[in-house]
Amino acid sequence: MLQAKVLILDYGSQVTQLIARRVREAGIYSEICAYNTAIETIKQANPSAIILSGGPASVQDATAPKLEPAIFDLNVPILGICYGMQLLAKHFGGQLAHADTREYGHAELTVLAPDSPLFADTGAGPLPVWMSHGDKVVSLPDNFVCLGATKTLPIAAMAWPEAKIYAVQFHPEVHHTPMGATIIRNFLFKIAKLSPSWSMSNFIKTEVPSLKERIGQKHVVCALSGGIDSTVVALLLHRAIGNNLHCIFVDNGLLRKNEVQTVTQVLVNQLHLNLHTVDATELFLSRLKGVTDPEQKRKIIGHTFIEIFDQEAHKLPQVDFLAQGTLYPDVIESVSAKGPSAVIKSHHNVGGLPEHMQLKLIEPLRELFKDEVRRVAQELGLPEQIIYRQPFPGPGLAIRILGEVTAKRLEILRNADAIVQEEMQAAGYLQKVWQGFAVLLPLKTVGVMGDDRTYEHVIALRVVDSIDAMTADWSRLPYELVAQISSRIINEVAGVNRVVYDVSSKPPSTIEWE
Ligand code: XMP
Repeated sequence: MLQAKVLILDYGSQVTQLIARRVREAGIYSEICAYNTAIETIKQANPSAIILSGGPASVQDATAPKLEPAIFDLNVPILGICYGMQLLAKHFGGQLAHADTREYGHAELTVLAPDSPLFADTGAGPLPVWMSHGDKVVSLPDNFVCLGATKTLPIAAMAWPEAKIYAVQFHPEVHHTPMGATIIRNFLFKIAKLSPSWSMSNFIKTEVPSLKERIGQKHVVCALSGGIDSTVVALLLHRAIGNNLHCIFVDNGLLRKNEVQTVTQVLVNQLHLNLHTVDATELFLSRLKGVTDPEQKRKIIGHTFIEIFDQEAHKLPQVDFLAQGTLYPDVIESVSAKGPSAVIKSHHNVGGLPEHMQLKLIEPLRELFKDEVRRVAQELGLPEQIIYRQPFPGPGLAIRILGEVTAKRLEILRNADAIVQEEMQAAGYLQKVWQGFAVLLPLKTVGVMGDDRTYEHVIALRVVDSIDAMTADWSRLPYELVAQISSRIINEVAGVNRVVYDVSSKPPSTIEWE
């Protein structure tokens, strides 16, 4: 059976990705492409339905992004959202007007066509919906019927049912439109009559043989960090080509306590990956000697990583491919924002590998969102500790030691951080927060222990809640938990006599201290 595919033409809305996610959550594969993608490319993609996204422009401006009329020749169901609705209205001869004020936020939609399949199972009452628009449709195009209205918008949803063209002025893809997911599902199942076929087990079933076919007998190298993305990439490839996949794990000496052992144990003993671990601690520490500037630390660590990876890769048999954990949001960011011909950005973990390596890229996750990667990980039997691991920065503890990175200071931070992890895990907070960690400050303070005066280090505790790391707020941990972490660190970690809690949000602060 051919897999159903919904193409989302992106007109620049901030929430276009959410449309793709809602469609996939309904079990239908979806792809986002730039609004000006060539019609030939759209035809080749063979979409089962098309969704036109919202966007910031006004369709009445001469320079506004246009609708490609040839999409109607495809004879597939179309849903226009916000700017997408206005494009459809204009194309079919409806009238638009600039609203006096931009409408933004909550509105109540009265459904005027309760029998329309678009509003099936959404209940009788007015529907709370979320709006964000300047222009509005003031007269219907020929053949169209009005499906819904709000106090300020006489035409807030419309359709030409016979042509399977539907449009809504509000945003069904956002959570602030509680019935939005149902409306999208209605479009997919009741109007476009698609059958769900997108699931992570299906993804694995098709991806593994396709990797096998593309790679054949050749060899692939992959850098593992112990995080979920690179591990899932490795597992998929391992299923496809077995030990022709060579994984390289660089121990830069900047990882958390016991991390190298835990990661190696899981990857080798449990998952049987062909893993080459390189202990490069001494080299990293020698290069970081005397360095205090955060960006300098990052550069040194990045370059040293690439150098070691390159050296290791040269010890392998002839390698033709480099596997990377690029995810779909990285791909869309380039495709949508900069137009269809934009170059896809390289993944920051291994970006900048020397050109002489001449490796072809393999990116098995480039179609997936992060939550889908987690589901693939579950299907592949990855342990929860990796699936739900907090993000950990590439430069590791080096950017959590303010000032110079030395073996002694790493030891202090590692021990303090291990207590943070243990106590947060025990209190059930490790997976509730975005990140929680210790930071070693470049100062000493006076304390008293027994009858003695001490003069020792300060640890800052940084715990934040966030959805995507773009913004964050400090976690309101229970005082008892903060107290327990603090007293254990001061009692158990030699060299620390004070713990402080960071109560700054991002912006204006950042999550990491460096
Ligand atoms: P900031 O400190 O910018 O961090 O608020 C946002 C997120 O990015 C992580 N982070 C990094 N990750 N290399 C990485 O791989 C880095 O240099 C780096 N700096 C910050 C940070 O842990 C947080 O999740």
